Amino acid sequence: AYIRGSQGIAYIRGSQGFEQDTREKKNIPVLPRYIASGWIKISEKIGRNPMLDYSDCVLDNWERLDKNGPISMDNLRLLSRFTGVVDEEHFFKTHVIIESEASPVIEALQRAFECIERKDTSGLMVQFKSLETCLFRLTRTCLPIMFASTKRDGALCDYYIFFHQLRPLIKTWTVIYDGFYDNKPRRFMGPSGAMSSVLPCIDILLGVKMSSIRLSKMLSAFEAYIPSDHRDFLVNLRRKVNARDYVSGLKSTEPHLVYSFNSIIDRVLDFRWSHFQFVKKYVIEQAPKGTEATGTGGTPAFKYLHQHITDTEEARIILESSTPIFQPSQAAQAEFLIPKIDLAQDSIETPQGEARGNQWEIERQKFWKVGTNGFLCAVVPPIWTLQTAPESCKVLVILSRAMPNACVANGPFRAMVEGRKSEMIAFAESLEDLNVTEAHTACSLLAYIQAGYKASGYARNDERKDEDSVELPDWISKPFRKLAEKLDRPARVSYLDLVLLNWHIQKDDIKGRTADRGPTRALMKEGRIKIVHRFLAIPVEQWFWGMHVAIEGEATDAIRAISNGLQAIRKDDILEFTGCLDALAQGIRSIIGCHPDPYPHPSRAELVLMRRLKGFIAPDDTLRDLACFVYSGHSAILPALFKFLGVKRGRHKLQIWRDNSVKFMPTEHRKFIGVIEHSMSARAYLKTLTLQQRKTRRRLHDVAVLEVSFNRCIEQLLRFCSRRSQLVCRCVPQEAQWFREVQMKKEAEHLTRSHCALLIGRKLSGAPTPALAPSVPTAALKAFVKTQQMKDSPDIRKRESVGAPIRVKRRSSDQSEGSLIY
Ligand code: HEM
Repeated sequence: AYIRGSQGIAYIRGSQGFEQDTREKKNIPVLPRYIASGWIKISEKIGRNPMLDYSDCVLDNWERLDKNGPISMDNLRLLSRFTGVVDEEHFFKTHVIIESEASPVIEALQRAFECIERKDTSGLMVQFKSLETCLFRLTRTCLPIMFASTKRDGALCDYYIFFHQLRPLIKTWTVIYDGFYDNKPRRFMGPSGAMSSVLPCIDILLGVKMSSIRLSKMLSAFEAYIPSDHRDFLVNLRRKVNARDYVSGLKSTEPHLVYSFNSIIDRVLDFRWSHFQFVKKYVIEQAPKGTEATGTGGTPAFKYLHQHITDTEEARIILESSTPIFQPSQAAQAEFLIPKIDLAQDSIETPQGEARGNQWEIERQKFWKVGTNGFLCAVVPPIWTLQTAPESCKVLVILSRAMPNACVANGPFRAMVEGRKSEMIAFAESLEDLNVTEAHTACSLLAYIQAGYKASGYARNDERKDEDSVELPDWISKPFRKLAEKLDRPARVSYLDLVLLNWHIQKDDIKGRTADRGPTRALMKEGRIKIVHRFLAIPVEQWFWGMHVAIEGEATDAIRAISNGLQAIRKDDILEFTGCLDALAQGIRSIIGCHPDPYPHPSRAELVLMRRLKGFIAPDDTLRDLACFVYSGHSAILPALFKFLGVKRGRHKLQIWRDNSVKFMPTEHRKFIGVIEHSMSARAYLKTLTLQQRKTRRRLHDVAVLEVSFNRCIEQLLRFCSRRSQLVCRCVPQEAQWFREVQMKKEAEHLTRSHCALLIGRKLSGAPTPALAPSVPTAALKAFVKTQQMKDSPDIRKRESVGAPIRVKRRSSDQSEGSLIY
């Protein structure tokens, strides 16, 4: 079939000039009968289509040089090629390696189905762990081979050669097979990784459902191109109960199984995101501007693969946050315990407010209590109308409502504020009457009004001109400063006003119910999280801040995990601590899940939003500052995660921004960060446990499991940072290159270096270790260590240890990209 196929392709694409797409469209090419006839007959006989497919080019197109040697890049060659260039050889050989390395995946997958049939949950756990390990290896060790290079040939599969020489030969075609199919044109797909059976099998096990009918049709179309035995195998698997359905039923009793299931989803996502880098580099970036890039399989690559990634995310099993992954102490169950530490010696600078009465202090602490609403205010912020606002604050309501319109294009907002000077002075005199909630709301409104007052003079242009700069009159600045001091918050518009205090949840449209918990991703998806104050009144502003409200709300689980983790370190309870790390990884995943795809309408929406908001929220800052603001705002989430996990500190701008942002946080958040800073980090604890493992006679596998959980948190954090970086690049594209290539590269470097490979390193170095207890994680560890010792490929040999960056030699331009996307 391959020989006939290459003759057919040579005839159509070789003789007619394969770059003349337009000509093909107008004038459908005809394959002569003397080629078509033999090709169609032989294809029918083996149950395939008369077109070169994945089996022709990969599965059935290789041999070992040394027949007894391993299937490795060094010991393989392709049986047939079109072009004779090294790039084609390398491209298909990488696929062969991946197919070969995927064999343990298939083995574990079959066993997993058997365990489900037998209802053997501990057996299933073992298979999940080995699936996870194999997928890890496929993604982190095998996929990067595609980017390998040598001194002599440079990149072994060059983007340009791939796109302009190989791809046109093997892409999808529409051809008339002379004398067949009623002489009507037939469209057949070219060879594509989508015709491999490996990922479809995993999708079946994980119950990944296609949300789009179009995607599901495409996938079925690809399935028609895989060898019939593989097809039967898939059909057979589909008849069985899949792991998702089985594990979902055990949610309440076997939460560990759910975590393990979700980890496999992570691994598959990891694969799909890394693979997406190929598509970006080799297809999307090479396609002529203004055309939609299609894969060799003929799909609109970007949409197709993104949809598949989203659908994979959706297969995750969501555990109710109340499901205990471990049994925390009773006190910790009652509320999130933040260990008490004397903050008098705290190095964090806290602004000094006026002497405050005790009651006020208690109320303020309650208002920002870290916990039930994540880092959002614990008390739902009131929405003031002219009826509900305190009498003296009505002027703030009137002005803030007028702002979006009145600020546009150097509008009359400043004049409007000045017209209400007397009411503003009256307001300034009544500050003492406000309670904590009212004071917060009033202060936030004032923050908006003073920003609008300043911006309305020069909001027209991006550039601020000196003569336009505006001094705030005393009757605005004084009450604002006074309130800010009283509330111990910054006297400028900040993340606190834009997100933490700026939300409400709309009632359910159908049942008119109010939400029973704070802002969540689900509420965001339903469009029920609304922001209260706005500068611009454009939909993307609601979308942007609404997303951040959901992120802050979803951070609740991560905060709980950190808080309990600190407790577990103090108690030196390793099992409880492992549970906390697992919960933390899950918590970070929930936060990541709040980052939707780019704003649905034209991609400039986010750019326009930031350009226009800048005059209000960061008039004196540079675009680079703005990029940092978009990345982490003044939110406590990233500082808390970095400090708790013990990520090594850098000196790059993002780190400096993170450190400074603490000053803009509410007091309770600063305390929370201070407590983490003064406690032992997760990494330090893990290191101590590992070094003292023999002395303290801890079970080796307990420490190993802890290490895996820790690394999982780091990976999730990397994914989180990657999502933030994508957002920054869309919002501030002017600084995207700097952000990606300098800041994110450093950020990713520090995170990657924080991975731990302590036990594995010790094992590999041959140090004696105590006997491994025969338990589930031990089996996983053994499998883990075994994969370390496999020496099939030279690329694999170079790798230092699991979790460490993979040392496949890449082109410099790839390195930044490849390391950022997880
Ligand atoms: C330069 C390298 C690669 C490029 C440019 C690339 C491109 C693509 C494109 C464009 C698609 C969408 C379907 C289509 O229209 O063809 C796709 C799908 C797919 N590719 Fe690749 N691919 C590459 C390497 C690989 C490798 C090494 C594998 C591993 C076997 C692989 C596995 C898959 C799978 C499984 C799909 C189906 C989508 C999914 O399940 O996520 N690809 N690829």
